[in-house]
Amino acid sequence: MSENHTLSTRSLLGIRGLTRADIDLIHATAKEFKDVLNRPIKKVPSLRDLTVANLFFENSTRTRLSFELAEKRLSADVVNFSAAGSSVKKGETLVDTVNNILAMKVDMVVMRHPHPGAHQFLASKIDVPIVNAGDGTHEHPTQALLDTFSLRQSLGDDLTGKNIAIVGDIQHSRVALSNILALQTLGANVRVCGPHTLIPRHLHEMGVEVSHDLDETIRWADALNMLRIQLERQGPADAVRFFPSLREYTMNYGLTLDRLAQADKPLTIMHPGPINRGVEISSEVADSEHAIILEQVENGVAVRMAVLYLLAQGRG
Ligand code: NCD
Repeated sequence: MSENHTLSTRSLLGIRGLTRADIDLIHATAKEFKDVLNRPIKKVPSLRDLTVANLFFENSTRTRLSFELAEKRLSADVVNFSAAGSSVKKGETLVDTVNNILAMKVDMVVMRHPHPGAHQFLASKIDVPIVNAGDGTHEHPTQALLDTFSLRQSLGDDLTGKNIAIVGDIQHSRVALSNILALQTLGANVRVCGPHTLIPRHLHEMGVEVSHDLDETIRWADALNMLRIQLERQGPADAVRFFPSLREYTMNYGLTLDRLAQADKPLTIMHPGPINRGVEISSEVADSEHAIILEQVENGVAVRMAVLYLLAQGRG
């Protein structure tokens, strides 16, 4: 599969650092793996001799399962680690924890960590490819790769000039930054939409449009990526701090069928999950034919297979 091409990077630390050719190669490879996943035998021997460690220092359901399935479908050996119940609680440093795992002859590391930049730091200390499965509020590159892969399948391969809006809690979301970078690399027009308090000020400088009007954004967009309010990142005790109440947030920024009816063209609706039904998106919209939320999940496995496969090719 795509033997003649390799990624320009040894680790996937973020979308920053990937070239257009890298993204195209990952997507082309994911397309081939998606075909494999639809066959009766869903497994290929590509990573048969490799061991991958999934290190989750922060909670996860779908990303963790998706990586594990991707690894198993590539025939890798898999070890899983989660910070809860580990020696991390006894004061061990990140580098020591990871070096101990690597001493057991692990070939690749997939890591989620609450600290932005943890992967960059680790990459300077260890010698195996690292895949960033989310670093705090910073980046979540495989989510952006699967989101843009899903968009290309939905809107057509060429995203040049397509209008894509990311709606909700941009400030605390790692999905937002990775999506902005990936969409811009693919030539899309990117807009973020949400309350002033949930949109970082520097976004203008990145060439991203900013809107506080969801109805106008619906009329502008070809696709909407609806993000969850990241209450767990907004301060102590999961309290609402950046807007008056969840009810008011939903009145202004919740996506409902009534709101969608204003669009004069079919709109693609995305969500990285987990969904808060009735907050950022109504159940009717989440379950409607506009939504590609479960396709995103399906594509996630193929895209992660592609990333792991290509990084394994580039080991040297
Ligand atoms: C996202 C995450 O963890 O950043 N979820 C995911 O990976 N599917 C988004 C979120 O938590 O809202």
